[in-house]
Amino acid sequence: MKKIILTGDRPTGRLHLGHFVGSLRRRVELQNSGEFDEIYIMIADSQALTDNADNPEKIRRNILEVALDYLSVGLDPKITTMFIQSQIPALYELTAYYLNLVTVARLQRNPTIKEEIKQRGFETSIPAGFLNYPVSQAADITAFEATCVPVGEDQMPMIEQTREVVRSFNHLYGDVLVEPEGLLSDNEVCLRLPGIDGKAKMSKSLGNGIYLSDTPEEVKKKVMSMYTDPNHLKVEDPGSVEGNTVFIYLDAFCKDEYFEKYLPEYKNLDELKAHYQRGGLGDVKIKRFLNSVLEEILTPIRERRKELEKDIDSVMKVLQDGCDKANAKANATLKKAKDAMKINYFDDQEHNIKDYFQE
Ligand code: TRP
Repeated sequence: MKKIILTGDRPTGRLHLGHFVGSLRRRVELQNSGEFDEIYIMIADSQALTDNADNPEKIRRNILEVALDYLSVGLDPKITTMFIQSQIPALYELTAYYLNLVTVARLQRNPTIKEEIKQRGFETSIPAGFLNYPVSQAADITAFEATCVPVGEDQMPMIEQTREVVRSFNHLYGDVLVEPEGLLSDNEVCLRLPGIDGKAKMSKSLGNGIYLSDTPEEVKKKVMSMYTDPNHLKVEDPGSVEGNTVFIYLDAFCKDEYFEKYLPEYKNLDELKAHYQRGGLGDVKIKRFLNSVLEEILTPIRERRKELEKDIDSVMKVLQDGCDKANAKANATLKKAKDAMKINYFDDQEHNIKDYFQE
């Protein structure tokens, strides 16, 4: 069986360091591993509309931002097909058939949906499209015959729901759909990078994110304002590294070679942590170091982005070619699904509906 990846993001904003450690970095590694036969990455604009129907402008303006983020971190259109969800009609046809295999109660029990309904204040009136987005996500995944879906932990209930749809479909109509596996990031600290204020998650609404497209000045300002240990008032005070945002970021990004380059008095992160815990190491120094570490990562991304921004037409072309390829794949799966359901009335000679009248 072919090894196929599908994953995606809602284009509700530019991508930030949380996305980078949580998923983007991993996708580039998977892409470059050469282990996969096909890789699809989808800009999930239709899904983003399920809770932004009143603001399509927000989605429109972020499609190219996300595409630029993809390309600038090193996703390569020669290997990875990047496309836009709304341009693939087969996904909505599949969704329509899958919806018959799922109950409303099951959707309401989906832990991610439950949590999002609370966050968005949808309790009293849930948009039907929103409640159904896990089914549409099942269509996204199965249309590409994905075996592997690299996602964050919050998306695991979507994979589980997809697997249930696949089993019901195959049970009713024959073995057609491929059951996917979720692939979690293997690194604990990467599962959820906190915002610069130490709050649980980077988010646009909290204004606590560092974006891949931020300027060096913006990054520096954000790093210097980071939440550390509120009890570490004087340099001599012993400090805590647990829950200290600067150290959480260093855990996610630091390599030993950066010490040699920027802080040669320490060999590695353990030594730096030990000094901080003993006392005698100030926040300004660790923040300056973190800033240098982040610049190691962000500078090449920023430079690639600047080049790409000079030729937006070629980015549009990447997406358009991606949509063409994605349509070919999704249409082929839709045909298989409709053949299995015996509803391809005009091309399927073997199960011709005329036969009911020729006994
Ligand atoms: N739900 C995902 C998110 O919010 C985006 C998404 C849509 C997706 N369809 C997908 C992810 C299919 C993986 C597979 O980020």
